[in-house]
Amino acid sequence: MAARKILTYPDTVLRERSEPVTDIDGKVQQLIDDMADTMYLTNCAIGLASNQVGEPCRIIMFDTSAKDEPNELVVLINPEIIEADGVIVNEEGCLSVIDYRADVKRAERVTVKAIDREENPITIKKEGLGAIVLQHEIDHLNGTLFIDHISKLKRELYKRRLKKLLKEKEA
Ligand code: NI
Repeated sequence: MAARKILTYPDTVLRERSEPVTDIDGKVQQLIDDMADTMYLTNCAIGLASNQVGEPCRIIMFDTSAKDEPNELVVLINPEIIEADGVIVNEEGCLSVIDYRADVKRAERVTVKAIDREENPITIKKEGLGAIVLQHEIDHLNGTLFIDHISKLKRELYKRRLKKLLKEKEA
C-alpha cells in the first residue's frame, strides 16, 4: 500500500472522462488500497476519485465519518446516479483544486448504482453530505470539477489567483 500523488487543476487528466472498469483484478484492488491510503493521509479529505491519482477508470470512495470514527469507507466501482431530487447548497473544496472553497448547488438526495470491490452490484441512497460527496466524486469521473458549478466570474477570479500562486511557487 502506498499513497499516490494527487493531480491538481489545471492538469488535463482531471478533465478526461474516465473509462469503466471491466475487470476487478489485482491491479484494481491495489489501486483501491492506494486510494484509501491517499485519502486517509489527507486530513480533511472525505472522498476521492481514481482519476485524481492519475488513473482514468471509474472508481470513487468516501468516508463521511472521517473526522469522528474513521473506517466507514465506501468504495464504488462504475457508479451511476439513477435518481436525484431536492436542492442543497453547501461549501465544497477539493484536493485537486488547491486553496479554494465555494458554495455549490447539488441535489439533496441521490440514489447510486455501482459495483463493490467484491464484484457485488450495490445500490446506495444518501442525503445531505453523503449525497454531496457522491455527486462531487462522480463528477470527477466525468471530468467535471466543483468550480464548473460556480459562476463564471468566481471561476475566472480563482483562475487568476491560482496562476499567481503557481508562479510564486516556481520562483
Ligand atoms: Ni474533488
